[in-house]
Amino acid sequence: MTDNQRITVFYDGACPLCDREISFYRRQKGADGIAWLDVSLSKANHVAPYLPKELALKKFHVQEKDGRVISGAEAFASLWTALPAFRFIGRVARTQPLLWILEKLYRQFLKIRPRLQSLIKDRQAEEANSLPPWLIRDLRSDHAGETGAVAIYRGILAVTKNAEVRSFAASHLKTERQHLALIEIVLPPQEKSTLLPLWRAAGFLTGALPAMFGNAAVYRTIDAVETFVDDHYAIQIKRLSEDERFSEIRCLLKRCRTDEIRHRDDAQNRLNNTSGVFSGIWCWLVDAGSAFAVMMARRL
Ligand SMILES: [Fe+2]
Ligand SMILES: [Fe+2]
Repeated sequence: MTDNQRITVFYDGACPLCDREISFYRRQKGADGIAWLDVSLSKANHVAPYLPKELALKKFHVQEKDGRVISGAEAFASLWTALPAFRFIGRVARTQPLLWILEKLYRQFLKIRPRLQSLIKDRQAEEANSLPPWLIRDLRSDHAGETGAVAIYRGILAVTKNAEVRSFAASHLKTERQHLALIEIVLPPQEKSTLLPLWRAAGFLTGALPAMFGNAAVYRTIDAVETFVDDHYAIQIKRLSEDERFSEIRCLLKRCRTDEIRHRDDAQNRLNNTSGVFSGIWCWLVDAGSAFAVMMARRL
């Protein structure tokens, strides 16, 4: 089909309002019989004879099959007439005094158009900056985990009087508090887990109980917890590496993971190799409990 057999629609593709509206028309039956020209992409000063780009960006224009350029309500009526689904409306809109009324309304719309454009642009920018639901779920589980980690070391310190274990727990606690503060920077406050009191209580017991049984029980528990956390962060970091938008969050989680590995190694280095059946069951419980907590915190 040549251009003199079809109308040409001039629209501002950089305007979110126009873009949405034209996208709607372009999905209609008969849209391929219309030439669509995004004026914002044009490098020429004139997009059609006697139609400067600047004017075409300000107001809706259509070039008729006979080459005549029309604008405003008349241009919309022409576009509607060219689409079978809107043909009747287009023909009615071309009659007076309806066309005159539509033109008046369109001119009123042009006055509020800049305000509407900036509102939509602001909303689009907000959407682009907001975190996707899957990442919110990941970060909520991290926040719950770091809350639990702080509670674990507080639980150990509440029970043990052993200087070596106290120094071990105090230095890890300091790092876990930093992790918690870091996650709180990126996770919106309203997205925190609603079960935080439960994670605090469970963490406290996970630290306090083994502390009643001595140094080795504490180190074995921390080994199990931090091994779990290392895997947990590794999975999330891998997922984030696929999207450059979240590179800062990925770096933050990498930093936390490096500390967790250090915590795990610190615990392992303080252990001798003997491991009883009881400690095996306890560590299995810690691992299963951590997995359950992550699953719940991702949802609640
Ligand atoms: Fe941590
Ligand atoms: Fe840790």
